[in-house]
Amino acid sequence: MRLDKFISDGAALTRTQARKIIKQGRVTCGETVIKDPAFHVDENDDIYMDEDKVTYKRFIYIMLNKPQGYVSATEDKRQNTVLQLLDESYSRYKLFPAGRLDIDTEGFLLLTNDGELAHNLLSPNKKVGKTYFLKLQNSVSDEEIRQLEEGVDIGECITKPAKAQRISPNEIKLTITEGKFHQIKRMAQAVGNTVVYLKRLSYGQLYLDESLKTGDYRLLTEKEIEHLYNVYKRK
Ligand code: URA
Repeated sequence: MRLDKFISDGAALTRTQARKIIKQGRVTCGETVIKDPAFHVDENDDIYMDEDKVTYKRFIYIMLNKPQGYVSATEDKRQNTVLQLLDESYSRYKLFPAGRLDIDTEGFLLLTNDGELAHNLLSPNKKVGKTYFLKLQNSVSDEEIRQLEEGVDIGECITKPAKAQRISPNEIKLTITEGKFHQIKRMAQAVGNTVVYLKRLSYGQLYLDESLKTGDYRLLTEKEIEHLYNVYKRK
């Protein structure tokens, strides 16, 4: 690929900024200063900008603590989208949410431009576990917990086995492996209750970083990405 692409993708700069920096002689490949933005480099080449190593990023993975009031979409005519929460420098990556949280749901949303990974994560065959924290209007009985775990009738289907854990009389954690439309809210309704607050705490083996305030985000760590690749990407 061209050196200016490597620098702009690796250092989150626009192509114009990358070209300018290259022409200023601030970029080296190995020991050699390269001033030609079209110079050919490979993904694993040793490229330095102002003596800092630049790692080429083809794919981006962001953990967002989604706030209420934002839709899980790339565009929307009426509502704010989750992409509007990101810094402008991410706009070139064509990110999209891997999965959907309702506008009034908070918590872990993965934003990426890795279509293959997103497809695998969302595939019903992969049975990715997602844990939610729910505040309910009424207290939940042991019998209702048992029903939620065994499966309840949400109209289009009986839900698959889930795990429920009581936190307080009207708060539970619920782990499901499906992703039907409004599934958690409909499950609560099926046992005669109503969700008044919903937050996703985890997605597969990835847990929402507790240091992320609502509306904040961070890149996944190398370890988290490696985990996703091992489980959901390698054939
Ligand atoms: N289930 C719901 O009802 N809403 C969500 O946002 C996610 C799961």
